[in-house]
Amino acid sequence: MTRENDPLAALWMPFTANRAYKATPRQLVAAKDMHYTADDGRQVLDGTAGLWAVNAGHCRPTIVEAIQKTATELDFAPAFQLGHPASFELASRVAAIMPKGLDRIFFTNSGSESVDTALKIALAYQRSRGEGTRTRFIGRERGYNGVGFGGISVGGIVNNRRQFGTLLNGVDHLPHTHSLQHNGFTKGRPQWGGHLADALESIIALHGPETIAAVIVEPMAGSTGVLVPPVGHLERLREITSKHGIVLIFDEVITAFGRVGGATASETLGVIPDMITMAKGLTNAAVPMGAVAVSRHIHDGVVEGAADGIELFHGYTYSGHPLAAAAGIAALDLYEAEGIFEHAASLHGYWEEAVHSLKGKRHVIDVRNMGIVAGIELEPRPGAPTKRAMELFHKCFDNGLLVRATGDIIALSPPLILQKAHIDEMVGRISDLLETID
Ligand SMILES: Cc1ncc(COP(=O)(O)O)c(C=O)c1O
Repeated sequence: MTRENDPLAALWMPFTANRAYKATPRQLVAAKDMHYTADDGRQVLDGTAGLWAVNAGHCRPTIVEAIQKTATELDFAPAFQLGHPASFELASRVAAIMPKGLDRIFFTNSGSESVDTALKIALAYQRSRGEGTRTRFIGRERGYNGVGFGGISVGGIVNNRRQFGTLLNGVDHLPHTHSLQHNGFTKGRPQWGGHLADALESIIALHGPETIAAVIVEPMAGSTGVLVPPVGHLERLREITSKHGIVLIFDEVITAFGRVGGATASETLGVIPDMITMAKGLTNAAVPMGAVAVSRHIHDGVVEGAADGIELFHGYTYSGHPLAAAAGIAALDLYEAEGIFEHAASLHGYWEEAVHSLKGKRHVIDVRNMGIVAGIELEPRPGAPTKRAMELFHKCFDNGLLVRATGDIIALSPPLILQKAHIDEMVGRISDLLETID
């Protein structure tokens, strides 16, 4: 096939080895509940909720109907200086399930936009209270905070940064908490690593607290391979940021909406930040949407403290888009009506035991878990890091299971409507396939 008539040529795929993919393409053509259908008709068990996103399972009728109905009634409404009822309703509904006090909601279209929005709000807030010298951000190594310039600057993944120049100025990073030596095969939250948060005091001492606007971390780092927060780590970040007048942002794009227990990891873990970023499960991923939940004092600082007129010069054409708002309301209704977070929580123990049964299997050097998330770390192939996990990813897919490969780690985060039989199937298949790869 020549390049001109290759039907796959035009699409430049995101975060994909385009040449390798197009040599052996694998496509998904349909989805229902816990399964995808591949283009050859095979059913593929979704071990990743799409991309940490489809928490209520695929193509749920009430969400589909809400989108269809809205599409015929109000396809679009400008978000600037106008509104439509569903965006206000969804904001109130989201506010109601956020930790107490984080009840002002700004809509975006993705996790990346939520992160950049939260960083901008932090700057505006510091300025509004006469602390305009606070312009620095502190992120964390191995953090993934999306792909906007703000997000890759505070994020801690070198491959996401090195092609893109100098990024934001004035960003520093906390150490990550991954340690096979101290935390290998820990079930749930590790005991070792809380003290790593003390590095924040050193960074603050280095720059001066009056220069630092915000700290942003994922409560559980998902994309770099499921790094579960050590006991005391987030607590300590909360203490230090409060002491120094620094805004604390939790990036909950993955962890919100039942993934680790309650509606947010913040509430589940009992550490409440000043802002929470979210996306994905907000609409069950049926329509792109993100949001930032902002504490009342930050919102009021920016809004009440402003002169007449626009208080925050920020927003997106599609902020609170009618189809997304409809999907969001329907998703929250479904989570509640079916008790989906509670159902998932009832399986946490079973999940933990099942994924840890992979300890001792070929190539497995660590297993980590939290909520309905697991990271299975494989020994990298000498001289060929990431190849082993990628091969396992392909083998799993070809054998009817979708997993996520990140580095040499296999991440699992299935829809929260899963049953024990799905867990057995996932773990059993991975266990068998590990035997078949070098
Ligand atoms: C913690 C976190 N933040 C931000 C993002 C970016 O979200 P999006 O891909 O919707 O821009 C992700 C995506 O996985 C994420 O896991």
